[in-house]
Amino acid sequence: MKKVVKFLATLMALTMMMSLLAGCSQKAPAATSEQKVEKFKIGLSLPTQREERWVRDKETMEAEAKKIGVDLEVQVSDNDSAKQVSQCENLITKGVKILIVGPHDSKAAAAIVEKAHAAGVKVISYDRLILDSDVDLYVSFDNFKVGEIQGKYITEKVGKGNYVVLSGDPADNNAKLFKEGAMKYIKPLADKGDVKIVLEQAVKDWKPDEAMKHMENVLTAQKNDIQAVLAPNDGTAGGAIQAMAAQGLAGKIPVTGQDSELAAARRILEGTQSMTVFKDTRELGKAAIAAALKMAKGENPGANGKVNNVKLDVPSILVESVVVDKTNLDKVLIDSGYLKKEDVYKK
Ligand code: BGC
Repeated sequence: MKKVVKFLATLMALTMMMSLLAGCSQKAPAATSEQKVEKFKIGLSLPTQREERWVRDKETMEAEAKKIGVDLEVQVSDNDSAKQVSQCENLITKGVKILIVGPHDSKAAAAIVEKAHAAGVKVISYDRLILDSDVDLYVSFDNFKVGEIQGKYITEKVGKGNYVVLSGDPADNNAKLFKEGAMKYIKPLADKGDVKIVLEQAVKDWKPDEAMKHMENVLTAQKNDIQAVLAPNDGTAGGAIQAMAAQGLAGKIPVTGQDSELAAARRILEGTQSMTVFKDTRELGKAAIAAALKMAKGENPGANGKVNNVKLDVPSILVESVVVDKTNLDKVLIDSGYLKKEDVYKK
């Protein structure tokens, strides 16, 4: 009898141990979703590194990818849309799971989305919208609003007179949005006859040199009688201001900008450029990498808006943009750590 009891006790103890062990293995941490996608690659295709902002976009995304332990393969297309398509094909061949594309040409880049989708790769349209495509997500600023900020600023400063209206590269969808936003304020004044638009000109590839040439020509044609310049970004503003400086007019004609480049901040302080728009590309880069990670895990990246790209309303993550001039430059650009005080105020 004793033997039977001992045997039963041993059996029970064994059973308990086994069930405990089984419980342990059930509770062993399941691979987290991060671990599951640990080895995946993200492709990043940027249009250029000419403007300072694109350098920061790249640096931020590289740092963010490193933080989460994801491989980021970067290509820069140097404002060449055929090159961008082939670089993206290459990234797809290399097995990226998500492709982040800042298109040089908003229409031509639709081919990239098709090729990516055919290979099961999702595409995030970065800063510039890829038109007429099934792009999966758009991460940008409200670019119409950026234009509104510029238009409101310049029309409040100069309500009457001869305006030069420059816009960005015609293949960049943002250029169109910036201009439309700004014209919301300028056009009513032109319709009233208070403002005369003496030059309305797109600047090929956003080149500062081109902006300078257009400005030189219009200054000559108008015998320097110009009261305001809508420049779409800091690079083109810099070109236009150089042409004005040659006529002794720098600082006498209000000029807009955007991007909060270091050179623009310095011009704002010296009074040759009136304003810029602060678009925190650090936030944009972080948002894009975070969204890519979610998409790679099959999760919803989350969106706070939709932007139509002709074919569909693309779910969009839109980051805020802020007007900057002499009155708030220190607070917005220096206190936020975007620019360094010693660089901005360097003599
Ligand atoms: C961007 C601007 C930039 C311009 C030229 C636009 O699409 O939104 O920030 O200055 O391209 O690169």
